[in-house]
Amino acid sequence: MDQKPLRSRAWFGRKGKDGFIYRAWMKNQGIPDHEFNGKPVIGICNTWSELTPCNAHFRELAESVKRGILEAGGFPVEFPVMSLGETLMKPTAMLYRNLASMDVEESIRANPIDGVVLLCGCDKTTPSLVMGACSVNIPTIVVSGGPMLTGNHRGSSIGTSDVWRYHDDVRVGKVLEEELVTIEAAMCRSRGHCAVMGTASSMACMVEALGLSLPGNAAIPAADSRRKVLAQLSGSRIVEMVKEDLKLSDILKREAFENAIRVNAAIGGSTNFVIHLLAIAGRIGVPLELKDFDPLSAGIPLIANLQPSGQYFMEDLFYAGGLPVVLKALDHLLHRDSITVNGKTIAENYANAESYNKDVISTTDAPFSTATGLAILTGNLCENGAVIKPSAASAHLMQHTGKAVVFEDIEDFKTRIDTPELDVDENSVLVLKNVGPKGYPGMPEVGNMGIPIKLLEKGVKDMVRISDGRMSGTGFGTVVLHVSPEAAAGGNFAVIKTGDLITLDVPNRTLNVDLTEDEFARRKQQYEPLSPVANRGYVKLYIDHVQQAHLGADMDFLTGGSGSEVVRDSH
Ligand code: FES
Ligand code: MG
Repeated sequence: MDQKPLRSRAWFGRKGKDGFIYRAWMKNQGIPDHEFNGKPVIGICNTWSELTPCNAHFRELAESVKRGILEAGGFPVEFPVMSLGETLMKPTAMLYRNLASMDVEESIRANPIDGVVLLCGCDKTTPSLVMGACSVNIPTIVVSGGPMLTGNHRGSSIGTSDVWRYHDDVRVGKVLEEELVTIEAAMCRSRGHCAVMGTASSMACMVEALGLSLPGNAAIPAADSRRKVLAQLSGSRIVEMVKEDLKLSDILKREAFENAIRVNAAIGGSTNFVIHLLAIAGRIGVPLELKDFDPLSAGIPLIANLQPSGQYFMEDLFYAGGLPVVLKALDHLLHRDSITVNGKTIAENYANAESYNKDVISTTDAPFSTATGLAILTGNLCENGAVIKPSAASAHLMQHTGKAVVFEDIEDFKTRIDTPELDVDENSVLVLKNVGPKGYPGMPEVGNMGIPIKLLEKGVKDMVRISDGRMSGTGFGTVVLHVSPEAAAGGNFAVIKTGDLITLDVPNRTLNVDLTEDEFARRKQQYEPLSPVANRGYVKLYIDHVQQAHLGADMDFLTGGSGSEVVRDSH
C-alpha cells in the first residue's frame, strides 16, 4: 500500500529558511533530528489541570501514551488545551465547551501533527476534544482517564449521585452540615472522574460505542494499572492509524452515531449525551437530529445496573466485563460492521465479551428496568423538543397534569423555593426559566431543582420539574430538560405563568400546556426578554452565536470543519 506523505513533512521536511526554523526550535528540547524528522508525529492533547480534579492524573497517563508511541516508531508531542473542570467552573463548564473545542481544533490544525491522542475525562473535556478534532479530521484516538474507585461511607458504597440525596438530607436535618466534610472525602477517595453513569462515564461509553477508543476504554478505573496499559496500547495504535490514514470521518459514520444512541439508552446514560452527540455530528457532517434519538432509544431497556438509574458503580461495570459486554448484549440492535480505531469492527471487538456479574450487566431479555434511558418530547411547551430520562424518573409521574409553579430565573427559584408561602403541593409542576444556553448563559446543570422543603418534610421524593437547562448526568427524578426554544429565545416556554395547567405524557412523548394560540400570542406581545449578561469577550460571542439545545448548543459558525491543510507559513 502506498503511504500518504506525513502531514508533518510540510514542516520538518522543508528546505531552506522555513525547514530550518521548523526544525531548529524543536532541537532546543534536546531532540536529535532523526527522532522527529520523518516519523509520525503524534500529538497528545492533554486536558491535565489541577483545576480539573477528574483529570489531575493526566500527566502520568500521557507518559504511558508516549511509551506506546515511541514503541511503535512515532514521535510524541504533548500539548495542553483549555481544561474544563465540572465542579469548579462558574457559571458552568458548559459555557466553555465550545471555546475549548476551538482551542483543540486550532492547536491540532496549526501544528505539525500527523495523528492525535485525546486525553479526556471530566464531563466536558470529552465532547470539546472530540468536536475540535472532528473539525480537523486527522487520525485520532481517545483515551479516557477512567472513573474513581467506588466511594465508601460507613460501610455503604457512595458516588456522585449521593450528592443530591445528601443535599436533601441536610435540608431536612437528617445529616449535619459538618458530616458532609467526612462524606466528601469518602466519596472522592481516588483519582478519576465521577464513579456513576454520569456525564463523564456516559462520554467514555460514547467514545467506545462510536469506535473512537480501544475496546474496554470506558470502564477501567483511573487507579487501576490497566488504565495505563490501555493508554500505552492506544499510543502504539495511533502510529499505525497514521500509516493506514484511518481518520475520524472513516469511523464516524451515521451507523456509529446510531450505535452510540442505542448504547446510551441501555446504560441509562446522561441526558447531556444528546447535546454533545448532536454537536459532534454537526462537526463531522453526519446528519443527526434530536428527533432521531427517540426511535433509536425506544424499547431499549436498562441493562447496565448503574447509578443514577440503577444501583452500582463504574468499578463494578469494569469487574463485570466492561462496556464490550453491554455492546454484545445489544448485538441484535447494533450496526455490527461499524469500523473502530483498532481497524476491527465493533462486533469483532466484543465477540469474546462475557458478563461476570449478571446483577451489573444483564441482557435485553432480563433488564433491570423496562424504562428506557431517553425520551424526546414535543408539544406547545417545547416547540423544538425537550428531553427526559425515564429510567431515572418516577413511574407514577410518567403521565401527569399539574399546575405550574414558575420561577423566572435561578435567583427567583433560590429566593422562594423554601418559603412557607410558596403555593405548591406534590402535584404541582416546577418550572424554571432562563437557564438555557443564551439565558444563563451556558445552560447549567440546575434542571433537577430541589423539591420545596415543606414537601420534602412530608416525604415527597419526586415532582415533575421542567426547565430550559440541563441536569448533571448523576442526577435523577422526573425532570424535563433542554426545553427548546429556551425562555431567552422567546418561544412559548418564555411566557408560561404560575397556575397554567401542564401535562407531561411520556408514553405519548408530549409536553403541553393548556393555552390557546391566541393566549400565547397575547402574552408574547407583552413579553420582555431579560437583558443579556455580557457585552464583551467570549461570553458575548457565545450568547450571540450559540444555537439552541436541539441543535447541540454549538456555535453557528463552528458547525462543520476546515480540514487539516494550512497552506501559508509563518515567516
Ligand atoms: Fe468531573 Fe463528575 S465532576 S466527572
Ligand atoms: Mg456534570
